[in-house]
Amino acid sequence: MRFVAVVMMMVSFGMAAQMPVAHSTIAPTLAQTPPMGWNSWNHFAGKVTQQDVMAAADALVKSGMRDAGYVYVNIDDTWEGERDASGVLHTNAKFPDMKALGDYIHARGLKFGIYSSPGPLTCAKFAASYGHEQQDADLYASWGVDYLKYDLCSYGKMMRDAQAEHPEDTELANRMMRESYVKMREALDHTGRPIVLSLCQYGLDDVWTWGAAVGGNLWRTTGDINDSYSRMSTIGFGQAGLAKYAGPGHWNDPDMLEVGNGKMSAEEYRTHMSLWALLAAPLIAGNDLSQMTDETKGILMNRAVIAIDQDALGRQGDRVRAEGPKEVWSKPLSGGAVAVGLFNRGEDAATMSFELKEVGVKKPHEILNVWTGEKMEAKDGKVMGVVPRHGVLLVRVTP
Ligand code: GAL
Repeated sequence: MRFVAVVMMMVSFGMAAQMPVAHSTIAPTLAQTPPMGWNSWNHFAGKVTQQDVMAAADALVKSGMRDAGYVYVNIDDTWEGERDASGVLHTNAKFPDMKALGDYIHARGLKFGIYSSPGPLTCAKFAASYGHEQQDADLYASWGVDYLKYDLCSYGKMMRDAQAEHPEDTELANRMMRESYVKMREALDHTGRPIVLSLCQYGLDDVWTWGAAVGGNLWRTTGDINDSYSRMSTIGFGQAGLAKYAGPGHWNDPDMLEVGNGKMSAEEYRTHMSLWALLAAPLIAGNDLSQMTDETKGILMNRAVIAIDQDALGRQGDRVRAEGPKEVWSKPLSGGAVAVGLFNRGEDAATMSFELKEVGVKKPHEILNVWTGEKMEAKDGKVMGVVPRHGVLLVRVTP
């Protein structure tokens, strides 16, 4: 028995050693805090145009979002046109001049993000990077791209087909996926331009355990979000247990923000924003920035909430406990401070509390209601409050 166990361990270590690893010196230096910015998909989807992206860049500046930290302006799927005879990819008519767009974005103190897939086609069936990785990376660099979202899409089918043909090689699909990311990481690095690599494969094969090794700076942990409390909360609260895989340069990504897209209440959007901040999640807004209400601006730009997400310690928060629909989450912050979220997933308002000792701060110097900025008091070592339906009481405890 013992012999079998040792042999099994040797086999699995051997296999792990063969797994492709990106030897990138650039990747670990990027995204020291979770990336912040805007992406076109959640609001504009396939209709996005160059004008929309320019308007988003302007709005980031005018609204104050850039100065609050939202610097990436990311075009998602549907910018791609055809490849010419030498394989160079061109844009489609919605994006007449990518170089000019990159310059426009950079001139405003912002950064430029783009989208592709390791397969031949993107999810919306536009041309993608398979077999043209270096050519595409060079093209992005020539446009001044700073961030690439690399979405599995049609490559998933290639992996599944190859796996079906070689059932004896049980690691084949996974190895192909890793290789495809390493290939793009190396192509990006080869351009000499520091480009953040965002993996999007919906959490397949526990990507959080190997996403950093293939050169990813962030990786989606789930399928797509949508603008509903049900989907947002399923994804957000489903992140329990992933904290140890995140840190400076490599983040879990529970998908982009829906704040301001209109189908959740302000309370629910505050829950969304609070949970993403406790998760040290990338804060990539997905609303129409040129049409923001003051309420939306207040949620996206609450500096104290952003500071929790962007805290220099770079630790993701996790669930402390859950009793039915009442969940307590906490995130360690620099200087021994801690952020605590009391979340009420239920349908009625509820009184909730946490004990200071349960979040590891014995003698707090200050207890702050993060959304209102009001000071709070602990009673008998307990912090308490009424939390509305689908709402949150977000607290910062400073020693
Ligand atoms: C999905 C991805 C979305 C969006 C979309 C574009 O696979 O998860 O975030 O990028 O493709 O087609």
